[in-house]
Amino acid sequence: MNILLLGSGGRENALAWKMKQSSKVNNLFIAPGNAGTAMIGTNVEMTASDFPKIKEFVLANNINMVVVGPEDPLVKGVYDFFKNDEALKAIPVIGPSKEGAQLEGSKDFAKAFMMRHDIPTARYQSFTKDTLEEGYAFLETLEAPYVLKADGLAAGKGVLIISSLDEAKQELAAMLNGMFGQASKTVVIEEFLSGIECSVFVLSDGENYKILPVAKDYKRIGEGDTGLNTGGMGAVSPVPFADDTFMKKVEERIVIPTVEGLKKENIEYKGFIFLGLIRVNGEPMVIEYNVRMGDPETEAVMLRIKSDLIDLFEATANGTLDNATLEMDPRAAVTVMLVSGGYPGDYEKGKIITGLDKIEGSIVFHAGTKQDGENIVTDGGRVLAISSYGATKEEALAKSFENASKIQYDGKYFRSDIGFDL
Ligand code: AMP
Ligand code: GLY
Repeated sequence: MNILLLGSGGRENALAWKMKQSSKVNNLFIAPGNAGTAMIGTNVEMTASDFPKIKEFVLANNINMVVVGPEDPLVKGVYDFFKNDEALKAIPVIGPSKEGAQLEGSKDFAKAFMMRHDIPTARYQSFTKDTLEEGYAFLETLEAPYVLKADGLAAGKGVLIISSLDEAKQELAAMLNGMFGQASKTVVIEEFLSGIECSVFVLSDGENYKILPVAKDYKRIGEGDTGLNTGGMGAVSPVPFADDTFMKKVEERIVIPTVEGLKKENIEYKGFIFLGLIRVNGEPMVIEYNVRMGDPETEAVMLRIKSDLIDLFEATANGTLDNATLEMDPRAAVTVMLVSGGYPGDYEKGKIITGLDKIEGSIVFHAGTKQDGENIVTDGGRVLAISSYGATKEEALAKSFENASKIQYDGKYFRSDIGFDL
């Protein structure tokens, strides 16, 4: 098979690594990819949301399957673009329809979906400029802290958690007045939930599903989970508190009603469902849906899938996931992200990376890198994900930290406390 993978981050490097292990893959193309994906397949210079260019490439290169890494092309409707095109409609796209992608593309849609299907989530209401006064009144019924969410995609920045009521009212007005552009024309206000979070990944063919290894990511830049939010500083899998009892609740109360709900509403969904969960008094609740794999969770989760990922994707496309097997690796897997100095604020790119040849016992996935002549240089805030296996997460983390110290570039930073809270 010839496969086209859309995206360019650590998640895509990990997906490419795992897919390439399948004997079914002849050519693997990654658009646009990075210096790491170029070592596994062939990078293609086009953005993941340039549909006409993607069409041209897919037809010219006899692509048999398209796998979508990030949310943006999904929310823009890449699945529907293929389905509605005579020349493309036989080529499966792994990812939901545009309507299904609204689970991530609109927080208001996602909350209303959860309400319709009795899926446990925080109490909420949505507001627009016309209902600002009602928004203030709703805030007054809640207790601090206040959670305000831009309805649309806001590059991971659209959620504000605010401790004072007055400030929450000001921020609500600012959001509705365009703080996040179109994305905050509608704002979801919800009750604050207190607990520990984890990420559950589901692969669904629209009828059946498989629950992939559960992971926990670390979003803050600073040790002890302090400082600004990032795209993710590391991840571990499995997650000790997500034990059989907890996961049974997740499956019965969240996974099944989600898959059934999509089906009942005739929403086509053949792809990943990412449940951002929080455990409140032992019970799972949904913080958010995403319609793709998580980053950096994928850089740990892919290590724990033993089965052929292409077999699973084919079953997803064909609606036969019930007959597919998902075998997991019992070992722990972790990833530690090396980032650029200054990230998540301003940072410089183009720093030469050395030491990649000295890595032993870890797998290095590239997140923000590119080839520059002879050198591999930094090309993003998150640069490299150092992933390792271990009998325990401590053993796996020790390997990742040791290898993290062998890699050098100007401004390198990583958190040396990934997994500290488990
Ligand atoms: P989201 O983009 O919806 O995942 O929100 C980003 C982060 O904000 C989450 O990972 C949580 O840590 C936090 N968060 C979102 N909603 C809530 C909530 N209702 N209660 C507590 N924390 C929340
Ligand atoms: N790690 C969280 C995300 O991918 O959104």
